[in-house]
Amino acid sequence: MQNKPYIVNETAGTKAYCQCHKSQNMPYCDGAHKGSGVGPSVVEVTEDKTVAVCGCGKTQSAPFCDGAHSR
Ligand code: FES
Repeated sequence: MQNKPYIVNETAGTKAYCQCHKSQNMPYCDGAHKGSGVGPSVVEVTEDKTVAVCGCGKTQSAPFCDGAHSR
């Protein structure tokens, strides 16, 4: 966990972003959540673009940063 977003130059496609904060490949799910009851946030990125994935766990717009880390 970190108190800022992960800025990723994303390619279009289906992405699974870690929500349990145990992944060794943040911000992506690596399966480390197994047994925790928390799964990844799976989203369809429709075009190549830069995204800000929440790293603090406080966002209300998961999996993306909504600025809550700075409030
Ligand atoms: S990093 Fe979590 S709201 Fe920005």
